[in-house]
Amino acid sequence: MKKILFVFAVFSLLIISCGETKKEDVKKEVESTKEEPKAAGEDLLAMGEKLFTDKTCVSCHQLDAKIVGPSIKDIVKVYDQDDASLVDFLKGTQEAIVETDPGQVAIMKANLDGFVKDLNATELEAIAAYMNSVK
Ligand code: HEC
Repeated sequence: MKKILFVFAVFSLLIISCGETKKEDVKKEVESTKEEPKAAGEDLLAMGEKLFTDKTCVSCHQLDAKIVGPSIKDIVKVYDQDDASLVDFLKGTQEAIVETDPGQVAIMKANLDGFVKDLNATELEAIAAYMNSVK
């Protein structure tokens, strides 16, 4: 009987210690994901900047001056004031709030329907992060 008790005790110790290492692993995982956003933040900005050029946004949106579309600064100013989301606008789930003239909206809408809809969530986040960073 004592032997059985002993085996049982060893066995439960094993289980407890295994449980402990698992907890450690989870902790480590949480810590490593905590580190990520920082790196992702910089990568995201670089990605956004590249997309802004590659996807021709820059041909209609300059940093400081209105050309075809409003400047990035003007866009971000309105989005900040209204606490609106650039990503939502790019996803097409939010109406235009910077310029509401139908002719102008149609130009941008053509981009949204044409190629912006093919960008994934990370790419849209990246573009928004870039626009917010240069305001
Ligand atoms: C052919 C020119 C053109 C291109 C290319 C273009 N835009 Fe626009 N964009 C416009 C015009 C015109 C407006 C003003 C109408 C409006 O606000 O919807 C606008 C408005 C916007 C707005 C403000 C929307 C609002 O709430 O009023 C955002 C944000 C924006 N563009 C982002 C982008 C991004 C990101 C890209 C590249 C993926 C891009 N645009 C490419 C012409 C363009």
